Amino acid sequence: MKIIMLGAPGAGKGTQAKLIAEKYNIPHISTGDIFRANIKNGTELGKKAKTYMDKGELVPDELVVDLVVDRVAKDDAKNGYVLDGFPRTIPQAEALDAALAKINDKVDYAIDVDVPDENIINRMSGRRACVACGGTYHIVNVPPKKEGICDACGGELILRDDDKPETVKKRLDVYHEQTQPLIDYYTEKGILKTVDGTVDMNDVFAAIVGILG
Ligand code: AP5
Ligand code: MG
Repeated sequence: MKIIMLGAPGAGKGTQAKLIAEKYNIPHISTGDIFRANIKNGTELGKKAKTYMDKGELVPDELVVDLVVDRVAKDDAKNGYVLDGFPRTIPQAEALDAALAKINDKVDYAIDVDVPDENIINRMSGRRACVACGGTYHIVNVPPKKEGICDACGGELILRDDDKPETVKKRLDVYHEQTQPLIDYYTEKGILKTVDGTVDMNDVFAAIVGILG
């Protein structure tokens, strides 16, 4: 099962992708998490990505595409995967489709987690992210058992640098301009499924399971 998560920043892609990965036993591949891990480890890729991420802009396609194409070719992705945060431009979607076509494969579902902009800014200021495993919490909606510590792995929880309100606004603009066109792209391919992302996250997940079976 090959799944793509679509949706605005803060729509809950990461939250749902993690649940999907656990239930269907497939890897959760988040390009944002990969970049944040690279930033934390001070790699060249991390340094390059950070300059874009801190401004709320997209990292250039050429820094993202090969990374994902290599990742989905790994052994643990043989039976499928859930891609979170990729593709987010039409050229990225075309590159993924071309890479999959070469091995006679294709994406099965593109799930759009639909949340209006008004809801997003609130969510982001309360979000805390685990630097070690990418786990996501919210200080009100999904608090960790111990403040500042990830329940799952004991890692440190941080407020992401790009979750400041002014950067969130920029990320929303970038989303509407560059990523939203993917909704039409996957609608035309007949694989787009939309879920209401404003309801409780367990209900969002139930709707997704209803689609995936
Ligand atoms: P990325 O890490 O992908 O960020 P994003 O798309 O902006 O999305 P977020 O991770 O902010 O939100 P989410 O939808 O995962 O929501 P979450 O589940 O955390 O990318 C970061 C940056 O990296 C980009 O800006 C770009 O620079 C770069 N980048 C990454 N991929 C790239 C690519 N392919 N090409 C180019 N550049 C790339 O939930 C949000 C909050 O809400 C949490 O606190 C959560 O607990 C809470 N929440 C979740 N669901 C609910 C619910 N149903 N009700 C109430 N609260 C909820
Ligand atoms: Mg995320």
